[in-house]
Amino acid sequence: MMNDWAGLPATYGDVLRRAMDSLFRTFENFSEGTFIVDADARVVWINKRYAARFGFSDPDQAIGRDCEAVIPNSLMREVVNTGKPILLDILETDREPLVVTRLPLKDDAGATVGAVGFALFDELKALTPLFSHYSRVQEELIATRRSLAQARRAKYTFGSFVGTSAASLEVKRQARRAAQLESPVLLLGETGTGKELLGHAIHGGSARANQPLVTVNVAAIPDTLLEVEFFGAAPGAYTGADRKGRVGKFELANGGTLFLDEIGDMPLPLQGKLLRVLQDKEFEPLGSNRIVRADVRIIAATSADLPALVAAGRFRADLFYRLNVLTIHAPPLRERTSDIEALAYAMLEDLSTQARGASHFELQDDALRLLCSYGWPGNVRELRNTLERAVMLSDNERIDARALAPFIGAAHGGGAYRLNAPLPEMASTAHAANAQASAPQPASWSEAMAAFEKRFLSDALRANGGRVIETANQIGMARATLYKKIAAYGIDV
Ligand SMILES: Nc1ncnc2c1ncn2[C@@H]1O[C@H](COP(=O)(O)OP(=O)(O)O)[C@@H](O)[C@H]1O
Ligand SMILES: [Mg+2]
Repeated sequence: MMNDWAGLPATYGDVLRRAMDSLFRTFENFSEGTFIVDADARVVWINKRYAARFGFSDPDQAIGRDCEAVIPNSLMREVVNTGKPILLDILETDREPLVVTRLPLKDDAGATVGAVGFALFDELKALTPLFSHYSRVQEELIATRRSLAQARRAKYTFGSFVGTSAASLEVKRQARRAAQLESPVLLLGETGTGKELLGHAIHGGSARANQPLVTVNVAAIPDTLLEVEFFGAAPGAYTGADRKGRVGKFELANGGTLFLDEIGDMPLPLQGKLLRVLQDKEFEPLGSNRIVRADVRIIAATSADLPALVAAGRFRADLFYRLNVLTIHAPPLRERTSDIEALAYAMLEDLSTQARGASHFELQDDALRLLCSYGWPGNVRELRNTLERAVMLSDNERIDARALAPFIGAAHGGGAYRLNAPLPEMASTAHAANAQASAPQPASWSEAMAAFEKRFLSDALRANGGRVIETANQIGMARATLYKKIAAYGIDV
């Protein structure tokens, strides 16, 4: 049988063979490297140039070896095992990456007997736009992973917990013990008593220290978003969901520790789900059929009276018992006034290094007595904020009682300074707007500005669920500045 193509072989089989032959030759000619493996992914043939690139002066030296031993990161074994091609991929090498194509080789019965790989472009010039995009994405990924790893490390160690009162030493002893164990930890205590600090220190002192520490502030996230925040969601799992889906904090914390701040604010349905995850050690992200294993240690903290919430039916008793294994009570500052001096000096030291120039702040005896006589409802956080304001606004590096007095109790509407109404916690900020209405009139322009700024920042933070970076972007303020202002105003995030 003849066809119209002069000079071409007549049968279909011949055409096919010719096509295959030319295809291989074309690829071989234009590719920077070609190699073939057998059904066990061992190299049966490799061209000279490709062998040389991977350090084999003679291609024969590569024959018979596992493909990965010749070309690190090779995926030829996958092609052999699955029988499926990998048409376009980027192979990372110790020099510049290569664009590669990998095809299975089949016998007449369709069984995979090996695979052939072509490295198409060496210098990737022809693919520059595509490749520069790839490199940029790759770099961003690396940078993001690095900063995440940084953010997920413990900020504080046991050494950060200042205090030598009997109560403080006991708290530290218990926290050190908790670090050696694997069971959940429950940190109870008023706001500002150092629960978060202890949580970090426990993680940092535990066997999980090199794994992530992930924090969720339950009070700062709207109830409707909490479930996704915890467990994540498949792409398009709910209306308004991220197209890409979302990885939950549980998954992010895998292998490490999940710090659940203000757990007393957790809605009941979510408490049930949390309990199940703690029991089953696995969960399913919203809208996915994927089971995620969760090897996560829980450290929970709350300033709420958890037993009272249990009694009132607002906190599940079974979850409470599950969490109430290693319970540490962080005592209020007024019950350990002997720590105040050491705390104040540690904080002044810290503030001195942050302040302009090489300031060195000192407390006069009467100032110290004043600090010890106050009740500190906001505990160590309030002490720090008070000193920070005194330092920022004081003309003298030797701070005496007269200079200090205006700042004491300021955040609680006390003292002479009366900045504004008590600062609401993120949890109860819904009432903040009303509270502002009854705030006393500020006496001067600078006080009015400070009061305005504090309120403005609190509102913006609340609107962003307490997330500082998002808030800074939204209001157009540098992140570092926002952090400083949060500390200076004692805004609770
Ligand atoms: N014992 C302590 N020594 C030094 N700083 C402390 C101590 N306790 C608390 N702080 C500081 O006080 C602030 C509030 O502590 P944090 O752990 O957030 O309290 P909580 O979580 O109980 O509200 C933080 O700036 C923290 O570093
Ligand atoms: Mg806290």
